[in-house]
Amino acid sequence: MTRQETAPPAPPAALEDVKGWFPKIDQMLFTWFLERQERLGETGDLVELGSYLGKSAILMGRHRRDGERFTVCDLFDSEAPDDSNQAEMNGSYATLTRTAFESNYRAFHDRLPEIIQAPTSVILDHVEPETCRFVHVDASHLYEHVAGDIQAAHVMLPAGGIIVCDDYRSEHTPGVSAAVWEAVAVDGLRPICVTTQKLYGTWGDVGTVQDELLEWLAAQDNVWHEVQQVAGRRLLRVKGRWAPSSEVQRLKERLAKSQDKLARTEDRLARARDELASVRNSVSFKVGRSVTALPRAVRRRNPGS
Ligand SMILES: C[S@@+](CC[C@H](N)C(=O)[O-])C[C@H]1O[C@@H](n2cnc3c(N)ncnc32)[C@H](O)[C@@H]1O
Repeated sequence: MTRQETAPPAPPAALEDVKGWFPKIDQMLFTWFLERQERLGETGDLVELGSYLGKSAILMGRHRRDGERFTVCDLFDSEAPDDSNQAEMNGSYATLTRTAFESNYRAFHDRLPEIIQAPTSVILDHVEPETCRFVHVDASHLYEHVAGDIQAAHVMLPAGGIIVCDDYRSEHTPGVSAAVWEAVAVDGLRPICVTTQKLYGTWGDVGTVQDELLEWLAAQDNVWHEVQQVAGRRLLRVKGRWAPSSEVQRLKERLAKSQDKLARTEDRLARARDELASVRNSVSFKVGRSVTALPRAVRRRNPGS
């Protein structure tokens, strides 16, 4: 390797090492939904629209079973289909490459998913209707694109399949919110639950899956939830209870400072004890000497001296 060349980054050892936008609570819910389908013997393919460096794809890939396909669709380092989408790409994903996605994915799986490096608008050229059990919509944030992605998910999923829509409520993604709630109001999408970042829904039976999810949530110590009625329908809100990593970092720093202060105080205390011991020694030495120095007659009169 020449001096100018930089070493490739070390492969990630854990999902936490992969850069991306996939909170722990959503990792838990993805796992719960995918394992539930496996428990119920529901088969079908998995699709992710928008994979970035692979954080959510790596987790989804753990649930691909024999005979199932896992397809990811992302522009990676290709041109976007329009200027607004290109502006998003330049703003948020300027350094993204397909190679980086692939090497992250390979750090966890022997086999890559099927990769479509293209705009998500082509997904139905690659995935047959009603062949999927789980679709994650997490690509462009522009209304036109997201509305198309949700319609494609509706085509790819049979009635009981699960769709997860990212950024359905973020301040910087009103186009996603519009597309998601439009699908609910107009296209029959039924929300199951929401987290801070994602909405989980289905075009099938929502009551049974919500009942089972509530049962699981009740047994989780580190997950908070509540049930709300929205336009006459039940909707679960789910949140992690653990401290955010910035809070954990702040507490670690405070602990380190307190430990440092404690160590310095203990050191001062030890030195003060040493000084006290040496003062005591010298006082008893002097007293001893002065007592010995008294005339014998005085010592006889004061036998205790
Ligand atoms: C928010 S990131 C995905 C995050 C990822 N799921 C994770 O968990 O870290 C959005 C991704 O969508 C891709 N993207 C944006 N517009 C797209 C489009 N029109 N078609 C395909 N991919 C697109 C970007 O390249 C980027 O990788």
